[in-house]
Amino acid sequence: MCENKKVGIIGLGAYLPERVLTNKELEKMVDTTDEWITTRTGIKERRIARDDEATSDMAVEAAKRALDDARLKPQDIDLIIVATITPDMFFPATACLVQAKIGARTVPAFDVSVACSGFIYGLAIANQFISSGTYKHALVIAAEKLSSITDWSDRSTCVLFGDGSGAAVLGPVEKGGILSVYLGADGKKGELIKLPAGGSRIPATKKSIEDGLHFVKMNGAELFKHAVKIMADAALEATRPLGLKAEDISLVIPHQANIRILNAVAKRMGLSKEKIYLNIDKYGNMSAASSAVALVDAVKEGRIKKGDKVLLDAFGGGLTWGAIVLEWT
Ligand code: UT7
Repeated sequence: MCENKKVGIIGLGAYLPERVLTNKELEKMVDTTDEWITTRTGIKERRIARDDEATSDMAVEAAKRALDDARLKPQDIDLIIVATITPDMFFPATACLVQAKIGARTVPAFDVSVACSGFIYGLAIANQFISSGTYKHALVIAAEKLSSITDWSDRSTCVLFGDGSGAAVLGPVEKGGILSVYLGADGKKGELIKLPAGGSRIPATKKSIEDGLHFVKMNGAELFKHAVKIMADAALEATRPLGLKAEDISLVIPHQANIRILNAVAKRMGLSKEKIYLNIDKYGNMSAASSAVALVDAVKEGRIKKGDKVLLDAFGGGLTWGAIVLEWT
């Protein structure tokens, strides 16, 4: 009988732009306060990419670090997936740009556009290809330049977002690795967060620019409610098939949208807050890159040890959501 191979994360890397934008600086840009942002979101500062730094540039840096960590060369990679809602351009896909820049072979390369759930969707797709034996090594990168689609005069959104990238190399492992995957989407709630113009529905015109339709529009309060339920439910769906209880999870690596969302998710899951990894204070919400960078940071800080069961959990525009249980190898 042909058994599926076990697939694990064998290398990780992250890249954050140098420029730090603090809440204090935002106080000078819009009608807000450090106190409001900190208590309502948990964010203290975020990174902002240079004008000449596009999503693929950040993706390449994270990818190179993940490849080094895996002790692999670009030529060893059989599949490249980039999760982003801020591609360099509509096409070519950012993954193709990355493939060329890192000098990988002419392997399949494509983007996934599921907003903040993108890193988890990417890992799930790569897992399928590797566990089936189709490919051996995949590079999954989550990279976002949200500053490029942020309305810097809208205090309800501009205080939330940041730029950055995280990457994982996936490959076959002897034991552990990805134990379960749960993905979902609800297009009926797509209106809650979107970038209205620039696509075929509202192509770019002078008017679409004047109307500010090339910036993220968000119903934050409504999203907040859905986020808590969706993330807690996704966690349950990913752990239940394994017979795992909340206490069996060593650390949750969530999408970093809002500290209050994450505290509410912990409560709903019956988990202590300490088991939810947080770095939202440093980077804000980086969409798909948030959970990728959080995983990289958690490993770097020694919060994840061999044999630990780790839960990746995210939700985002679409709406989309996903959760993965990993046994760290
Ligand atoms: O990545 C996935 C997608 N994103 C999310 O999941 C975001 C989820 N939502 C949230 O994180 C929260 O809803 C926000 C942080 C966006 C907003 O927090 P909130 O507690 O839901 O605030 P609110 O939108 O209900 O606004 C409360 C008040 C309003 O004033 P009034 O109407 O009560 O006078 C806002 O105008 O806070 C005001 N406000 C601000 N005040 C100071 C909104 N933004 C700001 C601001 N500074 N930056």
